[in-house]
Amino acid sequence: MDSILVTGNGPLNGQIPIAGAKNACLTLMPATLLSEEPLTLTNAPRLSDIKTMTALLQSLGAEVSSLQDGQVLAMSSHDLTSQTADYEIVRKMRASNLVLGPLLARFGQAVVSLPGGCAIGARPMDLHVEGLEALGAEIDLKDGYLHAKATGGLKGAVHEMRFASVGATENIVMAATLAKGTTVLKNAAREPEIVDLIECLRKMGAQISGEGTSTIEIQGVDRLHGATHQVVTDRIELGTYMLAPAMCGGEVELLGGRMSLVESFAKKLDAAGVHVEETRSGLKVARKNGRVSAVDVVTEPFPGFPTDLQAQMMALMCTAEGTSVLEERIFENRFMHAPELVRMGANIEVHGGTATVTGVERLKGAPVMATDLRASVSLILAGMAAEGETTVSRVYHLDRGYEHVVRKLEGVGAKIERIKGQ
Ligand code: UD1
Repeated sequence: MDSILVTGNGPLNGQIPIAGAKNACLTLMPATLLSEEPLTLTNAPRLSDIKTMTALLQSLGAEVSSLQDGQVLAMSSHDLTSQTADYEIVRKMRASNLVLGPLLARFGQAVVSLPGGCAIGARPMDLHVEGLEALGAEIDLKDGYLHAKATGGLKGAVHEMRFASVGATENIVMAATLAKGTTVLKNAAREPEIVDLIECLRKMGAQISGEGTSTIEIQGVDRLHGATHQVVTDRIELGTYMLAPAMCGGEVELLGGRMSLVESFAKKLDAAGVHVEETRSGLKVARKNGRVSAVDVVTEPFPGFPTDLQAQMMALMCTAEGTSVLEERIFENRFMHAPELVRMGANIEVHGGTATVTGVERLKGAPVMATDLRASVSLILAGMAAEGETTVSRVYHLDRGYEHVVRKLEGVGAKIERIKGQ
């Protein structure tokens, strides 16, 4: 298995291009199932999660061609052959469950494996099921699979979600595009990836309003047509690389970045003493003097501080002046990076969903293990700011969500290399 070797190397300078959003692409791809006509995505990120979704769509009979070095995905669901998402694919990636709403809407039936346990928490599907049942679907759990049926088609309804789940919002919105009548989804998630999905669905002929607010209204139509859509910028990759100069010092411009994607996160960086400014081509981040100050963080649904940046923010707080409290409110087991950071000399105490971090002057390089996608990159950031060498193993997690991570960080002066495993 490959690993990443990072050596602390002082301030960073230069530019990093930010890719299209993984989480947007993973919901835009299943949208192809809603129409017989082709859907083409541009600005797609080159990631193993995208390959997993490609394999899933192909297993349903969809055609998916990866063009222009993977940045363009040309898809067609003209001749689908199956409505079953198999456990072997779903278990690799929870986002596979996003085929449920589209399949049910187009064919009146779908069989989708439950994703099973996930390293960062239980992550059940109850909110997806409740929303689709509100639209008239009958859903049973048999042998680990959700069997969904909508005899006579889905029907619009007013439904309020108990929690603003990102995936459930996406599944319900996609399903409602082809339902009869109007659906009003209350307490909907407001993430930019959902806004991006709805913009694409609208290009396909869907009638939707209210995206980006907590009430989304969908007027069902008989059919959707083809479209071409550019995937929105990845705000989590953006936030991750904003932390690189915050941790190592220097000044880095994140090309394609926009403040509106990372507002709550940028406010925390500002409070910590890191300068963030919008430029014509992206966001410029600089830390010119000394250590950052400790700030407290609570993860929340968008527009709050994103859970997907909590691990990376913890890495920054490890060398901040003072004590910070990080509260994780979205996932129940998302501090697995803490013991790895402690191996590098960090002072962290975890109690339930709260981590208390007291900053130390400098971390020290150590062999550490990536436990999930965002944890893996937090260890790389920590290694870049540490004294000596850090080896991060199990980097397949990283390949799920960060394209060309070595090349991008090397480009701004980091000392980082990928070591090929046996
Ligand atoms: C998406 C993102 C993920 C991000 C998360 C929260 C994708 C592919 N992934 O995941 O990177 O960390 O949003 O911003 O977009 N829950 C239930 N029942 C359900 C669904 C969810 O209890 O039916 C719970 C989950 O266990 C979790 C919380 O709700 O504790 C948030 O989950 P959700 O917003 O659904 O996240 P995902 O869509 O899985």
